[in-house]
Amino acid sequence: MSTIIEAHNLTKKYNGNTAVEDLSFDINKGEVFGLLGPNGAGKTTTIRMLCCLISPSSGTAKVGDYDVTDINGSMKIRKMIGLVPDNVGLYESLSVVKNLEFFGRMYEAPMQVIKENIEKYLKMLDLWNNRDQAVGTFSKGMKQKVAVVRALVHDPDLLIMDEPTANLDPEAAKTIREVILDLKKDNRTIMLNTHNLDEAQRICDRIGILKTKLLAIDTPASLERTMYGRKTEIIVENINESIVNAVKLEHPLNIEINGDKMMIEMKDPDRDTPSIVSSITAAGGRIKSVSETRASLEDVYLKLVKE
Ligand SMILES: Nc1ncnc2c1ncn2[C@@H]1O[C@H](COP(=O)(O)OP(=O)(O)O)[C@@H](O)[C@H]1O
Ligand SMILES: [Mg+2]
Repeated sequence: MSTIIEAHNLTKKYNGNTAVEDLSFDINKGEVFGLLGPNGAGKTTTIRMLCCLISPSSGTAKVGDYDVTDINGSMKIRKMIGLVPDNVGLYESLSVVKNLEFFGRMYEAPMQVIKENIEKYLKMLDLWNNRDQAVGTFSKGMKQKVAVVRALVHDPDLLIMDEPTANLDPEAAKTIREVILDLKKDNRTIMLNTHNLDEAQRICDRIGILKTKLLAIDTPASLERTMYGRKTEIIVENINESIVNAVKLEHPLNIEINGDKMMIEMKDPDRDTPSIVSSITAAGGRIKSVSETRASLEDVYLKLVKE
């Protein structure tokens, strides 16, 4: 799999305060990658370093074939990326189309390409009929959609979005998530910052959890699985010590007992659950139910971020 972003030990200090520390990760081409973390975690700082808007205090990153710390590279990188920044930064008195054409020209894309993309993406985001209206008359959600279109006018392979759905109503947020998934189908790579777990889980192929340092990075499913292990919940009507001892003989990783509920953590529940169930029955336990429970991404996130 080829990578489009490779960050190596990126570190940013503001007046001696470390905002991002020793951050290394790769993003593969065609992937939707989410950087998840609380306010102040360093998400925006990371994006600004990747987009060459600020320079790292140490470490570096490659975007495509170019290095963010190289002055010639940084010009190339800025054209490669479509950025949706954390504040939309549009010209309020200009119309949607005038805004988009202005920014498109800054990327030095051919006017024909700019015009085609403006039409395509404004239609996709349901703003085509508002194209001649001044941006200043728009709601926050509409402005955010215009910022998304602006990031796409020059056909970038890589879209970087800083909390694209923050403070949007559910409908506007959903539209933006759908556009992200459409762009993925169109072979673009998308990196987004979010503090919205549910959103990260729904649209990201992989997630990095950031709190100044990178705490974990994996697919949402693997994060849930590996951070906690899988647990089987067995409800036994008449739990007693000999039943618990019978379970212990099966070498579970951990057992918690709460009333008639046993939470049993094991390496491989598919393999181990049947023999544990048999030994409970053999020890005289009456089993009422057996179910697998998994940690949610929220459990994983809160555990990591609190530690
Ligand atoms: N320009 C700046 N000058 C000084 N401190 C900054 C600046 N930008 C961000 N910070 C600090 O760096 C830390 C990370 O901020 P930021 O990257 O904006 O986090 P996030 O986007 O995850 O909320 C915060 O403590 C913030 O106060
Ligand atoms: Mg931010």
